[in-house]
Amino acid sequence: MSALLVDNIGELVTNGVGEGPLGIRREAAVLIEEGRVAWVGPAAYAPAADRRIDAAGAAVLPGFVDSHAHLVFAGDRAAEFAARMAGEPYTGGGIRTTVGATRAASDDELRATVRRLRGEALRQGTTTIEIKSGYGLTVADEARSLRIAAEFTEDATFLGAHVVPAEYADRPDDYVGLVCGPMLAAAAPHAKWIDVFCERGAFDVDHARAILACGQAAGLGVRLHANQLGPGPGVQLGVELDAASVDHCTHLSDADIDALAGTAHSDGSGTRTVATLLPGAEFSTRSPYPDARRLLDAGVTVALATDCNPGSSYTSSMPFCIALAVREMRMTPAEALWAATAGGARALRRDDVGVLTPGARADLVVLDAPSYLHLAYRPGVPLIHQVIRNGVPQ
Ligand code: NIG
Ligand code: FE
Repeated sequence: MSALLVDNIGELVTNGVGEGPLGIRREAAVLIEEGRVAWVGPAAYAPAADRRIDAAGAAVLPGFVDSHAHLVFAGDRAAEFAARMAGEPYTGGGIRTTVGATRAASDDELRATVRRLRGEALRQGTTTIEIKSGYGLTVADEARSLRIAAEFTEDATFLGAHVVPAEYADRPDDYVGLVCGPMLAAAAPHAKWIDVFCERGAFDVDHARAILACGQAAGLGVRLHANQLGPGPGVQLGVELDAASVDHCTHLSDADIDALAGTAHSDGSGTRTVATLLPGAEFSTRSPYPDARRLLDAGVTVALATDCNPGSSYTSSMPFCIALAVREMRMTPAEALWAATAGGARALRRDDVGVLTPGARADLVVLDAPSYLHLAYRPGVPLIHQVIRNGVPQ
């Protein structure tokens, strides 16, 4: 059995036992065996290993867990972005443009795009990524989107209810029937999750409830896009259906916050339904940011994710989202890093990633910096020195 020792770590973020909420250990080492963390402790007591990586006193973190990304698509919408920066609002109407391009693309073109974006994310420290369908919106195109997504992730999400496609514009009930019937049947074998864009202009609360309930009955976990463009019933629907995560949460009422806080675990470990904030979307649509402080102060578990997609947030960079969260959403650097690692894991209801404790997956990021603080302190700087995924240096 070959063991790998990551040694001489100046600041190790474990999200487990250690100093502060990030479980920090200083002058530490991590032993990796068979793709898992086998031991964490002081560098001075590190066990022998066949191979050694010298972190040279730098910071080491759990790999980022990006729990919200739309990577299966074709084309881009750079012109739409430019128009927005000149004053046009974001309405989600451009989704249909990407649906047209995606339907026209070959499997290999879609696969190449996912591979490219997955690679981009990995180089920026993301070792776990959720990938949604949602730009096919026919039975065959949603099924192939998920087949391709599942080649790259254990967390593929069926988002057939992204928008009502143009050919169903005047009969949305029929489209909901298609999503709950043949589309779900074709999608479910490749997916772990179901998602709905519950928003004015996309799916109303009754349609969203019906679709999510069908997904649940087919064995999929629930997550949803909620309260992005305006206030609405999405967050409370998520709580009603025991969603793992409600995503965006840009426009929340006191009742929405109370509903999320009401899902708190009795052991004080946070909420069962996570609020996933996607500051790349507010950045790229020039919209007001969600109020992270209000959620955190109410005890709601918060995750950060990229929402990587060609319309509202074409970034694959978790460090960029961390910097935005700290600067624009008043999260502390520690809260933002936790949300981008352990928080993302919670949003995917996983306990094997987002932490560096014995038994966890050996997904590590070695920074080119002495502290995780530099992720927000040095925005836009490529600080990811090395990524180890499943115990394998990338
Ligand atoms: O999460 N809001 C819905 N879906 C995406 C945007 C998709 C697009 O504009 O293509 C989002 O922001
Ligand atoms: Fe999204």
